[in-house]
Amino acid sequence: MSLLTAPGQATQTLQWTKKDLLGLRTLSADEIRLILQTAESFREISLRPIKKVPTLRGKTVVNLFFEPSTRTRISFELAAKRLSADIVNIATHSSSLSKGETILDTVHNLEALKVDILVIRHAAAGVPALIASQATSAVINAGDGAHEHPTQALLDLFTIQEKKGRIDGLNVSIIGDIAHSRVARSDIWGLTKLGARVTVCGPPTLMPTQIEQLGVKVTYRVDEAIRDADVLMLLRIQHERQETRLVPSLREYRLRYGIDRDRLAAHAKPDVLIMHPGPVNRGVELDSAVADGPFSVILDQVTNGLAVRMAALYLVSGAPKVDEAEA
Ligand code: CP
Repeated sequence: MSLLTAPGQATQTLQWTKKDLLGLRTLSADEIRLILQTAESFREISLRPIKKVPTLRGKTVVNLFFEPSTRTRISFELAAKRLSADIVNIATHSSSLSKGETILDTVHNLEALKVDILVIRHAAAGVPALIASQATSAVINAGDGAHEHPTQALLDLFTIQEKKGRIDGLNVSIIGDIAHSRVARSDIWGLTKLGARVTVCGPPTLMPTQIEQLGVKVTYRVDEAIRDADVLMLLRIQHERQETRLVPSLREYRLRYGIDRDRLAAHAKPDVLIMHPGPVNRGVELDSAVADGPFSVILDQVTNGLAVRMAALYLVSGAPKVDEAEA
Protein backbone atom coordinates (compact mmCIF):
# COMPACT_ATOMS: atom_id res chain seq x y z
CA MET A 1 0.00 0.00 0.00
CA SER A 2 1.28 3.40 -0.83
CA LEU A 3 1.78 5.60 2.19
CA LEU A 4 -0.26 8.18 0.34
CA THR A 5 -3.19 5.82 -0.07
CA ALA A 6 -5.64 5.15 2.72
CA PRO A 7 -7.21 1.67 2.63
CA GLY A 8 -9.84 1.56 -0.09
CA GLN A 9 -8.76 4.85 -1.65
CA ALA A 10 -7.25 5.48 -5.04
CA THR A 11 -3.67 6.79 -5.12
CA GLN A 12 -3.64 10.56 -5.02
CA THR A 13 -1.15 13.36 -5.45
CA LEU A 14 -0.90 15.82 -2.58
CA GLN A 15 0.85 19.13 -2.23
CA TRP A 16 2.09 20.52 1.09
CA THR A 17 0.35 23.85 1.67
CA LYS A 18 1.15 24.74 5.30
CA LYS A 19 3.78 27.34 6.30
CA ASP A 20 4.58 25.56 9.56
CA LEU A 21 4.63 22.12 11.17
CA LEU A 22 3.21 22.69 14.66
CA GLY A 23 1.47 19.44 15.55
CA LEU A 24 -0.37 16.38 14.32
CA ARG A 25 -3.75 17.48 15.69
CA THR A 26 -4.07 19.98 12.87
CA LEU A 27 -2.80 17.68 10.09
CA SER A 28 -5.04 15.52 7.95
CA ALA A 29 -4.29 11.83 7.48
CA ASP A 30 -3.22 12.63 3.92
CA GLU A 31 -0.80 15.33 5.09
CA ILE A 32 0.72 12.86 7.55
CA ARG A 33 1.06 10.29 4.76
CA LEU A 34 2.69 12.92 2.53
CA ILE A 35 5.37 13.59 5.16
CA LEU A 36 5.98 9.86 5.63
CA GLN A 37 6.25 9.30 1.88
CA THR A 38 8.64 12.26 1.53
CA ALA A 39 10.76 10.83 4.36
CA GLU A 40 10.86 7.50 2.53
CA SER A 41 12.36 9.24 -0.51
CA PHE A 42 15.02 10.95 1.64
CA ARG A 43 16.01 7.88 3.66
CA GLU A 44 18.55 6.47 1.21
CA ILE A 45 20.60 9.70 1.16
CA SER A 46 22.01 8.77 4.58
CA LEU A 47 23.13 5.40 3.17
CA ARG A 48 25.29 6.98 0.44
CA PRO A 49 29.09 7.37 0.79
CA ILE A 50 28.56 11.14 0.35
CA LYS A 51 25.51 11.90 2.46
CA LYS A 52 24.50 15.20 0.92
CA VAL A 53 22.09 16.57 -1.70
CA PRO A 54 21.64 20.22 -2.77
CA THR A 55 17.88 20.37 -2.11
CA LEU A 56 18.00 23.19 0.48
CA ARG A 57 21.15 24.94 -0.75
CA GLY A 58 20.88 28.65 0.10
CA LYS A 59 18.31 28.13 2.87
CA THR A 60 19.11 28.93 6.50
CA VAL A 61 17.74 26.88 9.40
CA VAL A 62 17.95 28.00 13.05
CA ASN A 63 17.76 25.53 15.93
CA LEU A 64 16.30 27.48 18.86
CA PHE A 65 16.14 25.05 21.80
CA PHE A 66 15.07 26.37 25.21
CA GLU A 67 15.09 22.84 26.70
CA PRO A 68 17.76 20.11 26.66
CA SER A 69 17.76 17.73 23.72
CA THR A 70 20.08 15.12 22.23
CA ARG A 71 18.15 13.30 19.50
CA THR A 72 15.89 16.05 18.16
CA ARG A 73 18.46 18.86 18.03
CA ILE A 74 21.23 16.77 16.48
CA SER A 75 18.82 15.11 14.10
CA PHE A 76 17.54 18.48 12.81
CA GLU A 77 21.13 19.71 12.48
CA LEU A 78 22.19 16.65 10.48
CA ALA A 79 19.00 16.76 8.41
CA ALA A 80 19.68 20.39 7.44
CA LYS A 81 23.32 19.62 6.61
CA ARG A 82 22.42 16.59 4.49
CA LEU A 83 20.10 18.85 2.47
CA SER A 84 22.92 21.48 2.12
CA ALA A 85 21.12 24.13 4.19
CA ASP A 86 23.09 26.42 6.49
CA ILE A 87 22.25 25.70 10.12
CA VAL A 88 22.75 27.85 13.19
CA ASN A 89 22.37 26.44 16.71
CA ILE A 90 21.42 29.01 19.31
CA ALA A 91 22.38 28.19 22.88
CA THR A 92 19.62 30.13 24.63
CA HIS A 93 21.55 30.41 27.94
CA SER A 94 24.37 32.31 26.21
CA SER A 95 22.18 34.46 23.92
CA SER A 96 20.65 37.84 24.70
CA LEU A 97 17.57 35.98 25.98
CA SER A 98 19.56 35.65 29.22
CA LYS A 99 19.77 39.49 29.35
CA GLY A 100 15.99 39.88 29.27
CA GLU A 101 15.29 40.02 25.54
CA THR A 102 11.90 38.52 24.73
CA ILE A 103 11.55 35.43 22.55
CA LEU A 104 9.64 37.44 19.95
CA ASP A 105 12.36 40.11 19.83
CA THR A 106 14.93 37.34 19.36
CA VAL A 107 12.84 35.91 16.53
CA HIS A 108 12.44 39.33 14.87
CA ASN A 109 16.23 39.79 15.02
CA LEU A 110 16.75 36.36 13.44
CA GLU A 111 14.30 37.27 10.70
CA ALA A 112 16.21 40.52 10.11
CA LEU A 113 19.12 38.19 9.29
CA LYS A 114 16.94 36.54 6.61
CA VAL A 115 16.65 33.04 8.05
CA ASP A 116 14.16 30.65 6.44
CA ILE A 117 13.17 28.00 9.00
CA LEU A 118 13.00 28.17 12.82
CA VAL A 119 13.07 24.86 14.71
CA ILE A 120 11.80 25.54 18.23
CA ARG A 121 11.70 23.56 21.46
CA HIS A 122 10.27 25.19 24.56
CA ALA A 123 9.04 24.08 27.98
CA ALA A 124 5.80 26.04 27.55
CA ALA A 125 3.00 24.72 25.36
CA GLY A 126 2.11 27.08 22.52
CA VAL A 127 5.41 28.93 22.10
CA PRO A 128 6.11 27.55 18.57
CA ALA A 129 2.54 28.46 17.54
CA LEU A 130 2.94 31.98 18.96
CA ILE A 131 6.20 32.45 17.06
CA ALA A 132 4.67 31.02 13.88
CA SER A 133 1.85 33.57 14.11
CA GLN A 134 4.37 36.43 14.24
CA ALA A 135 7.12 35.17 11.91
CA THR A 136 7.30 35.02 8.15
CA SER A 137 9.82 32.16 8.43
CA ALA A 138 8.51 28.60 8.57
CA VAL A 139 8.34 27.20 12.11
CA ILE A 140 8.76 23.55 13.11
CA ASN A 141 7.71 22.52 16.60
CA ALA A 142 10.51 20.41 18.12
CA GLY A 143 8.49 19.84 21.31
CA ASP A 144 6.45 22.33 23.34
CA GLY A 145 5.72 21.52 26.97
CA ALA A 146 3.31 18.62 27.32
CA HIS A 147 1.51 19.68 24.13
CA GLU A 148 2.99 18.17 20.93
CA HIS A 149 6.22 16.74 19.50
CA PRO A 150 5.17 16.22 15.88
CA THR A 151 8.45 15.00 14.37
CA GLN A 152 8.79 12.38 17.14
CA ALA A 153 5.32 11.03 16.35
CA LEU A 154 6.07 11.09 12.62
CA LEU A 155 9.26 9.08 13.10
CA ASP A 156 7.30 6.66 15.31
CA LEU A 157 4.71 6.24 12.54
CA PHE A 158 7.46 5.82 9.96
CA THR A 159 9.13 3.12 12.07
CA ILE A 160 5.88 1.22 12.63
CA GLN A 161 5.10 1.38 8.90
CA GLU A 162 8.64 0.17 8.12
CA LYS A 163 8.56 -2.75 10.58
CA LYS A 164 4.92 -3.84 10.35
CA GLY A 165 4.12 -2.81 6.77
CA ARG A 166 1.00 -0.94 7.92
CA ILE A 167 -0.44 1.23 10.68
CA ASP A 168 -4.15 0.79 9.99
CA GLY A 169 -5.68 -1.86 12.25
CA LEU A 170 -2.70 -2.27 14.59
CA ASN A 171 -3.04 -2.24 18.38
CA VAL A 172 -0.62 0.25 19.93
CA SER A 173 -0.24 0.62 23.70
CA ILE A 174 1.45 3.70 25.15
CA ILE A 175 2.62 3.06 28.71
CA GLY A 176 3.98 5.57 31.20
CA ASP A 177 3.56 9.21 32.15
CA ILE A 178 0.80 10.08 29.70
CA ALA A 179 -0.18 13.29 31.52
CA HIS A 180 3.13 15.08 30.93
CA SER A 181 3.98 13.60 27.54
CA ARG A 182 3.90 15.64 24.35
CA VAL A 183 5.02 12.47 22.55
CA ALA A 184 1.92 10.60 23.74
CA ARG A 185 -0.38 13.38 22.51
CA SER A 186 1.22 13.62 19.05
CA ASP A 187 1.34 9.83 18.74
CA ILE A 188 -2.33 9.53 19.69
CA TRP A 189 -3.30 12.06 16.99
CA GLY A 190 -1.13 10.42 14.35
CA LEU A 191 -1.93 6.79 15.15
CA THR A 192 -5.69 7.27 15.37
CA LYS A 193 -5.77 9.33 12.16
CA LEU A 194 -3.98 6.49 10.36
CA GLY A 195 -6.36 3.86 11.74
CA ALA A 196 -4.50 2.29 14.69
CA ARG A 197 -6.28 1.36 17.93
CA VAL A 198 -4.52 3.08 20.80
CA THR A 199 -4.54 2.06 24.47
CA VAL A 200 -2.92 4.27 27.10
CA CYS A 201 -1.71 2.86 30.42
CA GLY A 202 -0.07 4.35 33.49
CA PRO A 203 -0.67 5.27 37.11
CA PRO A 204 -3.95 7.16 37.64
CA THR A 205 -1.93 10.16 38.85
CA LEU A 206 -0.13 10.30 35.48
CA MET A 207 -3.27 9.88 33.33
CA PRO A 208 -4.99 13.02 31.99
CA THR A 209 -8.68 13.30 32.77
CA GLN A 210 -10.96 12.73 29.77
CA ILE A 211 -8.13 11.30 27.65
CA GLU A 212 -10.77 8.88 26.24
CA GLN A 213 -12.12 11.84 24.27
CA LEU A 214 -9.06 11.53 22.02
CA GLY A 215 -10.37 8.13 20.89
CA VAL A 216 -8.14 5.94 23.05
CA LYS A 217 -8.84 3.15 25.53
CA VAL A 218 -7.53 3.58 29.07
CA THR A 219 -6.24 0.85 31.36
CA TYR A 220 -4.32 1.02 34.61
CA ARG A 221 -3.19 -2.63 34.33
CA VAL A 222 0.01 -3.03 32.39
CA ASP A 223 -0.56 -6.72 31.63
CA GLU A 224 -3.78 -5.75 29.87
CA ALA A 225 -1.96 -3.06 27.87
CA ILE A 226 0.68 -5.58 26.78
CA ARG A 227 -1.78 -8.30 25.74
CA ASP A 228 -2.81 -8.04 22.05
CA ALA A 229 -0.48 -5.06 21.47
CA ASP A 230 1.42 -5.07 18.17
CA VAL A 231 3.47 -2.13 19.42
CA LEU A 232 4.43 -1.11 22.95
CA MET A 233 5.58 2.50 23.34
CA LEU A 234 7.23 3.18 26.68
CA LEU A 235 7.55 6.66 28.14
CA ARG A 236 9.75 7.88 30.99
CA ILE A 237 8.34 9.71 34.00
CA GLN A 238 8.83 13.38 33.14
CA HIS A 239 9.93 14.78 36.49
CA GLU A 240 10.81 18.15 34.93
CA ARG A 241 7.11 18.82 34.28
CA GLN A 242 5.85 17.67 37.69
CA GLU A 243 5.49 20.07 40.58
CA THR A 244 4.84 17.35 43.14
CA ARG A 245 5.83 13.71 43.32
CA LEU A 246 3.09 11.75 41.55
CA VAL A 247 4.36 8.19 42.07
CA PRO A 248 5.38 6.78 45.47
CA SER A 249 8.87 5.74 44.26
CA LEU A 250 10.67 4.68 41.11
CA ARG A 251 10.93 1.16 42.58
CA GLU A 252 7.16 1.04 43.00
CA TYR A 253 6.68 2.36 39.45
CA ARG A 254 9.03 -0.27 38.03
CA LEU A 255 7.21 -3.06 39.88
CA ARG A 256 3.80 -1.97 38.61
CA TYR A 257 4.51 -0.56 35.14
CA GLY A 258 8.10 -1.37 34.17
CA ILE A 259 8.64 -3.71 31.22
CA ASP A 260 11.09 -6.52 31.85
CA ARG A 261 11.80 -9.77 30.04
CA ASP A 262 9.47 -11.84 32.27
CA ARG A 263 6.50 -9.50 31.82
CA LEU A 264 7.05 -9.49 28.07
CA ALA A 265 7.41 -13.29 27.89
CA ALA A 266 4.21 -13.78 29.91
CA HIS A 267 1.92 -11.39 28.05
CA ALA A 268 3.31 -10.00 24.77
CA LYS A 269 2.66 -11.10 21.21
CA PRO A 270 5.63 -12.94 19.70
CA ASP A 271 6.26 -10.17 17.15
CA VAL A 272 5.68 -7.15 19.40
CA LEU A 273 7.69 -3.97 18.70
CA ILE A 274 9.26 -2.16 21.65
CA MET A 275 9.55 1.59 21.10
CA HIS A 276 10.73 4.49 23.24
CA PRO A 277 11.27 8.12 22.20
CA GLY A 278 14.28 8.46 24.51
CA PRO A 279 15.90 9.34 26.76
CA VAL A 280 15.37 5.90 28.37
CA ASN A 281 15.53 5.60 32.15
CA ARG A 282 16.91 2.06 32.23
CA GLY A 283 15.61 -0.09 35.05
CA VAL A 284 12.54 2.13 35.53
CA GLU A 285 10.10 2.01 32.57
CA LEU A 286 12.24 -0.44 30.62
CA ASP A 287 14.87 -3.01 31.63
CA SER A 288 18.07 -3.14 29.61
CA ALA A 289 17.31 -6.71 28.51
CA VAL A 290 14.22 -5.35 26.71
CA ALA A 291 15.66 -2.00 25.58
CA ASP A 292 18.57 -3.83 23.93
CA GLY A 293 16.63 -7.01 23.11
CA PRO A 294 15.37 -8.51 19.85
CA PHE A 295 12.00 -6.70 19.85
CA SER A 296 13.46 -3.24 20.40
CA VAL A 297 13.46 -0.73 17.52
CA ILE A 298 14.57 2.20 19.65
CA LEU A 299 17.69 2.96 17.61
CA ASP A 300 15.76 2.46 14.34
CA GLN A 301 13.48 5.26 15.59
CA VAL A 302 16.54 7.51 15.92
CA THR A 303 17.75 6.59 12.42
CA ASN A 304 14.31 7.23 10.93
CA GLY A 305 14.12 10.58 12.72
CA LEU A 306 16.74 11.90 10.35
CA ALA A 307 14.72 11.09 7.21
CA VAL A 308 11.54 12.44 8.80
CA ARG A 309 13.24 15.72 9.74
CA MET A 310 14.72 16.05 6.26
CA ALA A 311 11.17 15.67 4.96
CA ALA A 312 9.81 18.24 7.43
CA LEU A 313 12.50 20.81 6.55
CA TYR A 314 12.02 20.20 2.83
CA LEU A 315 8.22 20.49 2.89
CA VAL A 316 8.02 23.67 4.97
CA SER A 317 10.84 25.25 2.94
CA GLY A 318 8.73 25.18 -0.22
CA ALA A 319 11.89 24.23 -2.14
CA PRO A 320 11.51 22.37 -5.43
CA LYS A 321 12.65 18.76 -5.29
CA VAL A 322 16.05 18.25 -6.89
CA ASP A 323 15.92 15.15 -9.05
CA GLU A 324 18.30 12.26 -8.71
CA ALA A 325 20.47 13.37 -11.65
CA GLU A 326 21.37 16.60 -9.90
CA ALA A 327 21.65 15.05 -6.43
N1 CP B 1 12.79 12.07 21.85
C1 CP B 1 13.33 13.28 22.13
O1 CP B 1 12.72 14.32 21.94
O2 CP B 1 14.63 13.23 22.58
P1 CP B 1 15.49 14.51 22.93
O3 CP B 1 14.87 15.17 24.13
O4 CP B 1 16.88 13.98 23.22
O5 CP B 1 15.48 15.42 21.73
